[in-house]
Amino acid sequence: MDKENRRLFIKRGAFILAVIAGGVALTSLLRQLFPRSIGQKKRIKVGMTNSYPVDTFSYIEEQKIFIYRDHEGVRAVTAVCTHLGCILEINDEGFNCPCHGSCYNKRGDVLSGPAPRALTWFQVSKAPDGQLMIDLTRKVKPEYKFLTA
Ligand code: FES
Repeated sequence: MDKENRRLFIKRGAFILAVIAGGVALTSLLRQLFPRSIGQKKRIKVGMTNSYPVDTFSYIEEQKIFIYRDHEGVRAVTAVCTHLGCILEINDEGFNCPCHGSCYNKRGDVLSGPAPRALTWFQVSKAPDGQLMIDLTRKVKPEYKFLTA
């Protein structure tokens, strides 16, 4: 391989590596911007109402949501922090983010940042087979509750 061919080979290799790195970076950015639109179902069944303990947030890992059931009904809220997408933890006041310390109350309102906005709540309904159904495309107010009692 002469000097000119070696230069050309190195240039092409560098170009291919740059394209691969750009593709990885773009995919990562799109996943952060649109976490629910890539690789997730829009409507999910999450089991029967009585499989959830009363007055408790239960985490559904596959869809990264919390289901909250009380004596009247069921609600569903994202478990993804609105800052950079870490999974939230439950505490006595609501939710806290283990990554950068954001705190939310039980309605999902931001108590302290850096989270830029409140958590998203999703519509809950009942599927024909009796299971609870969460529609990840339909946002509702925090007060919304699917009545089961
Ligand atoms: Fe939650 Fe940064 S990802 S505070």
